[in-house]
Amino acid sequence: MTVGARIAVIGGGYVGLPTAGVLAQFGHTVVCAERDEARFRALAEGRVPIVEDGLADLIAEVVAKGTLRFVRRAADAVRGAEFVFLCVATPEGDGGAADVTFVEDVATEIAGALDPGAIVVNKSTVPVGTAAAVERITGVTAVSNPEFLREGTAVRDSLHPDRVVVGADDLRAAQRVGELFSETGAPLIVTDKITAETIKYASNAFLATKLSFVNALAGLCESVGADIRDVVLGLGYDRRIGFDFLRPGPGWGGSCLPKDAAALVRIAEDAGYDFTLLRAAIDVNDESRERVVRKVVDAAGGRLSGRTVGVWGLAFKAGTDDRRMSPAVAIARRLVELGATVRAYDPTVPTGPGTVDLEGMVLCADPYDASRGAHAVALLTEWDELRDLDFSKVADLMASPTLVDARNLLDPDALRRAGFSYAGVGRS
Ligand code: UGA
Repeated sequence: MTVGARIAVIGGGYVGLPTAGVLAQFGHTVVCAERDEARFRALAEGRVPIVEDGLADLIAEVVAKGTLRFVRRAADAVRGAEFVFLCVATPEGDGGAADVTFVEDVATEIAGALDPGAIVVNKSTVPVGTAAAVERITGVTAVSNPEFLREGTAVRDSLHPDRVVVGADDLRAAQRVGELFSETGAPLIVTDKITAETIKYASNAFLATKLSFVNALAGLCESVGADIRDVVLGLGYDRRIGFDFLRPGPGWGGSCLPKDAAALVRIAEDAGYDFTLLRAAIDVNDESRERVVRKVVDAAGGRLSGRTVGVWGLAFKAGTDDRRMSPAVAIARRLVELGATVRAYDPTVPTGPGTVDLEGMVLCADPYDASRGAHAVALLTEWDELRDLDFSKVADLMASPTLVDARNLLDPDALRRAGFSYAGVGRS
């Protein structure tokens, strides 16, 4: 086991911070570079600028132990480092392809400061072939070590991953990177760079397809009068299928699944393969969001102009403040477009003038305020606190008590008793 390795982590975001924290916890000495001034200042002052369960405690612990510190410039972080983890964003670029500008910029920036024996580790999700490009730019060995953590459970996922994948041409380099994570006890898969990069896309594309499958089934259930919750029970007990990623909802979102599905379609296309199955999964996802919009229109009496809609939840899922590619935001924006006055609440979104993605919405301090005068409420993110509301009070506040539960979070019978008409997903 490698203990006390000198590690640089470039990027202090949703992937970089848990990675840096966990590697520091394993006893390595970690320097994390965050170039955004406001984020860097927060981190240097001991504040964690994202909502992520357990992350603030982990970071505080390793900073106090002296195994993690923050710097602004990537070049400063990599001096003397044996391993350099690239954890920068690769947003969706033109035509669905991932934009690797940040990865290439960092590689260029650190090239002159790297020790000749350093290993650059690509954690960011990058198009197949990027590790080879990083190797060319930096002049040192590059390996692919894709990240499988989920936002909201990032610390747990990083401490206890299902597997560690390392792709490299140099077997010794791959083993050394794998050893950094030996404390996790997870199986280590060593392969070549291109295969490792493909594994990451394959995993996210499979999860996206599984979710689209269950969301399509939910649509079918609504048509034939079946109940998706029991269908999922019947499916999930088959161990070959399992229960994970079978919760129907308003469609899959976040900064990874949509971007990576689009990128893999594009990667396949560029390589001459038409990935029709994945394209269909993306289509079903668009349709899943639209089905929720239609339910809200119906719940509000067939039109939205001149109507008020309460929106509960804006984050792409519970447990995170991330709204990138959030189905909740996409649906709320559609409701605004269709003429509704949207009163929105999310525990991670402050009231006051919202950011540009929330333009045209009234941001409320709590779910009661969001339901004031509403002709329908749409529950779009599965925040636990929404289970325990006083629904009679909500009904009294609304113009007409109808609720569209896009996460199947609430108990329809209890709501009906409180005077609501209720529409879930995949259940009549
Ligand atoms: C996803 C993958 O799950 C991680 O393994 C991967 O490392 C990560 O992308 C990444 O590439 O960085 P994440 O985007 O954090 O993680 O979120 P998920 O928990 O996968 O949720 C994705 C979307 O699916 C959310 O909109 C969520 O609400 C939805 N979902 C998930 C459902 O609608 N039903 C489910 O049963 C599960």
